[in-house]
Amino acid sequence: MEEEKRNGLRVILFPLPLQGCINPMLQLANILHSRGFSITVIHTRFNAPKASSHPLFTFLQIQDGLSEAQIKDGPTSNVMSLLAQININAESPFRDCLNKVLLESKESSSEKVSCLIDDCGWLFTQTVSESLNLPWMVLCTFKATFFNAYPTLPLIRTKGYFSVSDSEAEDSVIEFPPLQKRDLAKVFGEFGEKLDPFLLVVVETTMRSSGIIYMSCEELEKDSLTLSNEIFKVPVFAIGPFHSYFSASSSSLFTQDETCIPWLDSQEDKSVIYVSLGSVVNITETEFLEIACGLSNSKQPFLWVVRPGLVLGAKWIESLSEGLLRSLEEKGKIVKWAPQQEVLAHRAIGGFLTHNGWNSTLESICEGVPMICLPGGWDQMLNSRFVSDVWNVGIHLEGRIDKKEIEKAVRMLMVESEGEKIRERMKVLKDEVERSVKQGGSSFLSIDTLVNHILLFV
Ligand code: UDX
Repeated sequence: MEEEKRNGLRVILFPLPLQGCINPMLQLANILHSRGFSITVIHTRFNAPKASSHPLFTFLQIQDGLSEAQIKDGPTSNVMSLLAQININAESPFRDCLNKVLLESKESSSEKVSCLIDDCGWLFTQTVSESLNLPWMVLCTFKATFFNAYPTLPLIRTKGYFSVSDSEAEDSVIEFPPLQKRDLAKVFGEFGEKLDPFLLVVVETTMRSSGIIYMSCEELEKDSLTLSNEIFKVPVFAIGPFHSYFSASSSSLFTQDETCIPWLDSQEDKSVIYVSLGSVVNITETEFLEIACGLSNSKQPFLWVVRPGLVLGAKWIESLSEGLLRSLEEKGKIVKWAPQQEVLAHRAIGGFLTHNGWNSTLESICEGVPMICLPGGWDQMLNSRFVSDVWNVGIHLEGRIDKKEIEKAVRMLMVESEGEKIRERMKVLKDEVERSVKQGGSSFLSIDTLVNHILLFV
């Protein structure tokens, strides 16, 4: 994207402190900066982005009320419970910080603050921005289809789908297609009815915002985007996939193991299965060992991201026996964190065993890499249904973390003729989405509409 002249306006961004939310917010920052806006990023101490990797932006850190130990554990901790604490602790520091930025801007004759853009997971930003008379927009890091279900999720929860018999497990959830009844338990996870007040606040506050920005495009979910506008009654801007304009590498919270790339260079075209379950999902030691054996038995080369903290109760990969580790190392490489976008774009990658976080799903589609779906919960359950049942660009493991299932899926996706249709269909989807980010494409044009929308705030 070409850099435009500064337009005298500043946009303030406030990401949720998760890798999967920081990446899109900083990509959005780059998109807006390239269109002439100055950028201030307000962020918590917990999972703070690296300011030095973004010299063009101003970073302001606020207190989040977490202890030193919680901050130190950072990306390896149970982030979901910490997020709930931060949502309470950070309101006052956020208000003070935003107020200060606005006062400074009033005193300056050269630049005005036009709006705040925050993550849809923050619960207090609407109250703060309204009290300071600042227009405010929401960035949704989920697929629009998932966000659209927020108002109906409490109702779906009470329908008794959780105790369905085996014969009904594959039935569609009528209120929430293409989700199947068996997916629902994992959408709600351990939270159950505790989620209801959270969902209600998010829906109410989003309806009072000046618009929703999606990291998605019409080619992937035109109807859901239209519906989103009807449900939340605010303008909707689908300007993704963001990483097609700016990579997320610079916003990584973990150190990326760059040795992945020369290792991939030494592998045959489309021969390697890339395995990563994102930044939040956890698995048990038994599940970890099943994946290890499945990969080893598949005889395909693999690149496996085992994030410290991924395996519950373990530091890293110490539960692998010497024998298993040796057999894994014959065919594959295990790293703590990879430069994922670069990896997916590498000619040697032929498949992605993924948890189907929305970022990972989009990154895979943009590189034309077919997937094996192993969703952990929440929106990943829906993304994986789209991948396997709607777009037909992946194989769903249906939660069976079993060495034989994994071996079978890897071989089918990567080498066997049964996987040919999936591989072909992925090429088509990649081309469709690619068109959206080119000049004249739906996402590209929506950036213009978004920019004009923000310009009207002042
Ligand atoms: C979570 C949710 O799962 C996701 O659905 C939601 O949209 C955002 O919050 P996460 O689980 O981390 O995110 O997954 P994902 O959305 O896929 O984001 C992970 C990001 O980390 C991706 O941009 C990916 O490229 C990056 N990554 C992952 C790396 O750079 N290296 C790795 O080794 C693994």
